[in-house]
Amino acid sequence: MIHKLALIGFGTVGQGLAQILHDKQEALRRNLGFEPQIVAVCTRSKGSLYQPEGLDLAQLLQAAQSGSLASYPDMPGLERGWDNLKTIRESNAATVIEISYTNLTTGQPAIDHCRAAFENGKNVVTANKGPVALAYHELLALAAENGVRFGIEGTVMSGTPALRLPGVALAGNELSEVRGIFNGTTNYILTKMEEGLSYAAALQQAQELGYAEADPTADVEGHDAASKVVILANVVMDVPLSRAEVSCRGISHLTSADIQQAKAEGKRWKLIGRVKKEGGRAVASVQPEAIPLTDPLAGVMGATNAITYVCDLLGPITLIGAGAGGVQTGFALLIDLINIGRGNL
Ligand code: HSE
Repeated sequence: MIHKLALIGFGTVGQGLAQILHDKQEALRRNLGFEPQIVAVCTRSKGSLYQPEGLDLAQLLQAAQSGSLASYPDMPGLERGWDNLKTIRESNAATVIEISYTNLTTGQPAIDHCRAAFENGKNVVTANKGPVALAYHELLALAAENGVRFGIEGTVMSGTPALRLPGVALAGNELSEVRGIFNGTTNYILTKMEEGLSYAAALQQAQELGYAEADPTADVEGHDAASKVVILANVVMDVPLSRAEVSCRGISHLTSADIQQAKAEGKRWKLIGRVKKEGGRAVASVQPEAIPLTDPLAGVMGATNAITYVCDLLGPITLIGAGAGGVQTGFALLIDLINIGRGNL
């Protein structure tokens, strides 16, 4: 069955999804019976396109890479210049892919995009941390009220199944704690500093590689990881937690000397996010910790992320994988779409 999609935002992640759909179109149809079709793309700076019968993915990617969707060729039925809300409300998409600018303080305009989609009977699949960290329960209830779905796998550890794994494969366990490395930029910086690079040079590399947020302060001061901790508490551990309740310290004060000293002591600095259940409530933090090299999190290098779930039946389970990147996060959107198609979301 054809699944029509409207993309709100078309940066690295949106183009990652479009590239996957372009490259795997035939395999997705043949192996999964999944036939996604991008009908609309709205951007802040490159313009907007709406083609109810589906946009041509090769031409769409080419136009985006040229810097403007104005270079997408004219064809019958093509509309240009629709804004985000008109696209969400009036396009024929069944699902809105919300990948607009991430605002970790207000969650806007993404929260309003999600509300509009649900009120208009459309699913939302998103990698945008703002709405999920700030309004998850409200949005989930609105989706349920309207009989549609809310896919959020891409908000933590990109396509690595950090949110889906506990609900599916660890169900029945009580999780007393979840801890991990939830920010690729800072882990990359710490790795490169251990190799001898300066903090500034390592940060610049992380930005060039596309790991960092538009404003990397959110990465290096721990705010990005703190938002993911909030999502994990509410979604995976089912304990209410707001951003203000997460004590948060980043890595900008760490020096090369601190890193070398930890190394000499058989330890390694990592920016650790943690949620613990204590008496039915969540206690959460993000802070640099010098952890022993025997901890599985200590061996996680570069932009890779990892999460340890402390389970009552299994003990600790650690999942290691990509935490950022266009294709990796594009895959997170894809797996939510596949699960909507299967009736599993
Ligand atoms: N800036 C984030 C990181 C991107 O470095 O992990 C993924 O959320």
